[in-house]
Amino acid sequence: MTSSSTPSLQQLYEELPYPNVPISTSARGALAGLYCASLTTAQYARSRAIVSSEGALILNAGCGSGWETLILAEANPGAQLVVCDLSPESVRVTEQRLRYHGFENVELHALNLLDVEQLGLQFDFISLNDVLYLLEDPVAGLKVLKRVLKPQGILRANLHHAYQREVIFRMQKAFQLLGLFDLPTGEACERVREFMHNLISDEARAALRWDATIYQDNTNMRANYLLPGDKGFLIPDLMRMLQEAELGLVCLVDYADWDPTLLFKEIPQWLKPELDKLSPAEQNHFYELIYPNHRLIDFWAEHPGSSLVLPWSNADWLGGRVQLNPILTDDPDFCRSLAKAAQKKVEFTCNWPGASRRRLRLSPAQVAWLGSLLQGPTPVQTLIQQASQANSLEPETAQEQVLTDLMALEEFLFVMLDPTPSGEALDCSWQQNGVLATGQQSLVD
Ligand SMILES: C[S@@+](CC[C@H](N)C(=O)[O-])C[C@H]1O[C@@H](n2cnc3c(N)ncnc32)[C@H](O)[C@@H]1O
Repeated sequence: MTSSSTPSLQQLYEELPYPNVPISTSARGALAGLYCASLTTAQYARSRAIVSSEGALILNAGCGSGWETLILAEANPGAQLVVCDLSPESVRVTEQRLRYHGFENVELHALNLLDVEQLGLQFDFISLNDVLYLLEDPVAGLKVLKRVLKPQGILRANLHHAYQREVIFRMQKAFQLLGLFDLPTGEACERVREFMHNLISDEARAALRWDATIYQDNTNMRANYLLPGDKGFLIPDLMRMLQEAELGLVCLVDYADWDPTLLFKEIPQWLKPELDKLSPAEQNHFYELIYPNHRLIDFWAEHPGSSLVLPWSNADWLGGRVQLNPILTDDPDFCRSLAKAAQKKVEFTCNWPGASRRRLRLSPAQVAWLGSLLQGPTPVQTLIQQASQANSLEPETAQEQVLTDLMALEEFLFVMLDPTPSGEALDCSWQQNGVLATGQQSLVD
């Protein structure tokens, strides 16, 4: 199989494994990364089934310096990890990082991801962060990964956004004209610093997204202004690529933050019905045309039609149990803060990648009953009773409020519903994959 990358890209990562995070840095509590790396979160988005990571086989393709691998290991307790990277040095650093943090259940390969079939493995979850846009032919990469994805498996990958990163692409072209891509890294980086330092004004530097502190680090410089083979994409590009690779889009990983209604103080009356006519992908495209604020188009994909999900009925909710997303209950800081808010009966806010604007706000009235989820999966009926008692509500009102709030929090993948009272594992193969509706404004800052 031909190599996916130019020799200079290979040299770059061999010289500077990415990202430049100290080996001793822990990934615990790194909620944004853990959310994207969690198989349970991804599978819930895909099939509305609560799937444990225990025993799952996970591929980290293009592991870099192992920071993503460490996050995958933390986010997926009991999973077995297989990692590969073109760069042997990156694989060595990954091994060192995982060993430092006590993760032994990992198989490492200095291998082009285009050759991953030679491992003879099939994966439950495949993760490639900040890799796909580097491949000469990203569709060829997706096709290979599809072949090693189990029938119910899920793939998480991302692409640089063409508009959000437009300035960086322009500067890459400018520095290519100046021959900086052909110089040794140290010299090229020094020249970029000198160039930026001598620009006429701070405004000019800001317009080129220059930050002297961040770009003291050659790894960051090489990952942006001096990155060979970098490419930008839009939502229609993603849809075309998935179609060519015969993969289906589950949804964007941060889909709630691509909701066009977030862009308006008050949505004009004529606009809402027009937006409702658009498919989810068209709505995402509309959003990026108006406000391209996402560096990455980050997505979950699957074998097309493999998950068929119908929305839960009220009966499912009323007879079921709800739990917090496990990456929250695994985070001692989160648990402490929510418990404290519940005890003091005060508002609770937290950063949550699944929410619109990545921020979640719970009112004191919501915290009063949601706090009990810290004890583990809880029957919805118990939550209704607690809401009724804590907030002095009639049972019917408490039921309505609890269901409304739980449904909104579930759309943000903050809570998960197990509709089977006995807690038996669900066979979700019959479910139809639905569109994830946008979250409730009341839960957003
Ligand atoms: C920007 S880094 C991302 C590292 C890591 N995934 C992360 O998010 O921290 C890109 C990595 O992909 C690797 N890579 C690029 N093309 C590859 C390929 N065809 N097969 C395997 N690894 C590749 C590079 O060597 C580099 O380590």
